[in-house]
Amino acid sequence: MQFDSITPLGALDLSGKRVLIRADFNVPLDDGEITSARRIDAALATLREAAEAGARVFALSHLGRPEEGRPAAEFSLAPVARHLGQSLGREVKLCVDYLDAPPVVDPGEVALLENVRFNRGEKANAPQLAKRYAALCDVFVFDAFATAHRAQASTHGVAQYAPAACAGPLLLAELDALGRALNEPKRPLLAIVGGAKVSGKLAALEALLPRVAQLIPGGGIANTFLRAAGQPVGKSLLEASQVAAAAEMLRAAEARGRPVALPVDVVVAPELAAGAAATVKAVGDVGDDDRILDIGPATVARYAALIDGAATVVWNGPVGAFETPPFGAGTEAVGRAIADSAAFSVVGGGDTVAAVERYGLAGKMSRITTGGGAFLAVLEGAKLPAVEILKSRAGDG
Ligand code: 3PG
Repeated sequence: MQFDSITPLGALDLSGKRVLIRADFNVPLDDGEITSARRIDAALATLREAAEAGARVFALSHLGRPEEGRPAAEFSLAPVARHLGQSLGREVKLCVDYLDAPPVVDPGEVALLENVRFNRGEKANAPQLAKRYAALCDVFVFDAFATAHRAQASTHGVAQYAPAACAGPLLLAELDALGRALNEPKRPLLAIVGGAKVSGKLAALEALLPRVAQLIPGGGIANTFLRAAGQPVGKSLLEASQVAAAAEMLRAAEARGRPVALPVDVVVAPELAAGAAATVKAVGDVGDDDRILDIGPATVARYAALIDGAATVVWNGPVGAFETPPFGAGTEAVGRAIADSAAFSVVGGGDTVAAVERYGLAGKMSRITTGGGAFLAVLEGAKLPAVEILKSRAGDG
């Protein structure tokens, strides 16, 4: 990805400056406890770098989707402040009314500003709010790759009005990995796109199809493709309204001589339930009452061979109902094949990352992106507004 036109954090003198870092601390919580700190941990190096450069660091983020103007405890960044404090080995104060009373932070210290989505005008990218964020800082650092597809006051507007705006190292690393995988991939490039619905990933599937040597649809998406290929799918999850679009993609892929890789056998059960009686069937043998819940062993072997032959692999979306045993074998095998291959691999999306973590494979992927929607936007070939504004500000600081 082209980002040589963006000013990197390391290019600026931060000593004594008020440095506002937009991170993505939108982490899953269960009863106030963080269940995966991956996104916070990915941002630590940036916070450390700025603090060590003598900056007065203010981090800001959204969490969840609260109603603007109605701060609610369940969406507070307090658990994130605690996690940051433990990780950085110093107190990280959570500042609440920072717009009215800008907090004072000493050089080398880090403070966290409360959920930006409590502020009216955040999602609409209101200039008044963006200017108030900008007034908090001398340098704005955008490091929230996972939020880069949102043009909001704390991602886009603030970058427009801040005295200087630059990119953090996490953002640059993410863009670099995605550029390696999609813009200048070592070929063959293989994409695995799974998940429940074609409609949510239609744009990504269509954009990937002409660029990849092989496309492997997974999960409900694969079922929709199987139906489009004239195969029986019984009571499986599929999107009837997208069968025509899937058929068109199958035709286009065939015409290019790079057919979409569909399952040849599947694991079926009468229902999606832990411990349900699972049977392996050839795709043509799926019965009216069957639900396809995973790929079968012959498909696993075929996909593993394709992965083994790829030089670059992009993976978004599991290939089966891996959260419910015994339907995780296909997703685990695909993950292991990627982990064991020499291919450059980029893996992302909440479910996919959860699967990779569950099977202990996280350390073996070339890159686990922090992006969910942002990763999908990149797969679609869409521009990221929060990155575009940084390009337009390059050289201003
Ligand atoms: C994400 O979780 O993908 C990002 O934090 C963006 O969150 P959003 O979809 O609520 O804007």
